[in-house]
Amino acid sequence: MLKNFNHFQEALEKRREEGTLRILRPKSEGIDFYSNDYLGLARNSELQNLLLKQIIENPQLLSGSTGSRLISGNSSTVIETENYIAKEHNYSSALLFSSGYNANLALFSTLPTRHDTIIVDEKIHRSVHDACKMSHAKKLKFKHNDVEDLEQVLKKQNGNCYVAIESLYSMDGDVAPIKEIIQIVEKYKGSLIVDEAHAFGVFGYGLVEKYQLQNRVLTTVITYGKAFGAHGAAILCEEIVKSYLINFASPFIYTTSAQNIQWMSIKTGYEFLKENEKLSIKLQENIKIFRRQNLKTPSFENSPIQAIVIPDNHQLRTLKETLLNEGFLTYAVYSPTVKEGTERLRICLHSFNTEEEIIQLTKIIKEFT
Ligand SMILES: Cc1ncc(COP(=O)(O)O)c(C=O)c1O
Repeated sequence: MLKNFNHFQEALEKRREEGTLRILRPKSEGIDFYSNDYLGLARNSELQNLLLKQIIENPQLLSGSTGSRLISGNSSTVIETENYIAKEHNYSSALLFSSGYNANLALFSTLPTRHDTIIVDEKIHRSVHDACKMSHAKKLKFKHNDVEDLEQVLKKQNGNCYVAIESLYSMDGDVAPIKEIIQIVEKYKGSLIVDEAHAFGVFGYGLVEKYQLQNRVLTTVITYGKAFGAHGAAILCEEIVKSYLINFASPFIYTTSAQNIQWMSIKTGYEFLKENEKLSIKLQENIKIFRRQNLKTPSFENSPIQAIVIPDNHQLRTLKETLLNEGFLTYAVYSPTVKEGTERLRICLHSFNTEEEIIQLTKIIKEFT
């Protein structure tokens, strides 16, 4: 067994000195301006009661799945949920995963071969970078949301190119120029993969659905742990892509399927969301209230994620702690997670935040900046 932990110690000490050491803390009490629960579904008692009713009627939903979906874990609940999701999104099929991280690992480690190139937006989620490490394909980046730069990268490649973008980016709260990107990708006969983790539920079923781009995108990734208030993810694609993933994607094959309660919560979540459009309307009203306070931000006008750049780790920490002392939970993104000089306070708005809370929060930030 490894007995000498010096290099672990050194790396952790370096982080401590820089003030970037990550520590797991119990959840704080306070007003939520930091979670991804944009529509409040994770705290919605009506939805909880619907789930509870189904569990009481069928307690087996709580049991373990007993195996990989290719052995004993392929329940009728997961099959039904996948069929339901595919129909809702107007795709021929859907493949469920226990998380968005796993869905991205499966996609990018499996579809591109060693002859192919994966071209990612420089701000793409870490799961895609990790997947690229598992893949034999070459990885290149293009400048964030920069269609011209994407074209420059694409035009120099031979062979298949897979282009990876998010529709709503979680660090800046900005939206990809998805229609322009599709045009360029099509011009060079590439394949586009869109991660809708933060857009799903906030902008209806996401931007691919909003602009009806299903036939022009190779796959779309939807996650259920953010606006949906649950957990899990789906890859939306054509039947042949699903079949290929089932056959070749290690993150799908070599893992125990999630419990039926997870798949059932997803299906119930869709039904609930369809009946409660008022939640996304309320969210947009709250975003408007926030934007009317005129804080300087690079984020988009209708984004629930609003970033306030405080270009100094120390100052940023002070602001976050000042807010915490006043009862506001926010998230500070320090360098090196983001580039030095772009450190930011990340504010997530929700349907359940009150006008008074939003005004109070922005008042403290204004006084500080
Ligand atoms: C853009 C994006 N993709 C994928 C993921 C991973 O999803 P999950 O949290 O379900 O693993 C996240 C989560 O932070 C994300 O922001």
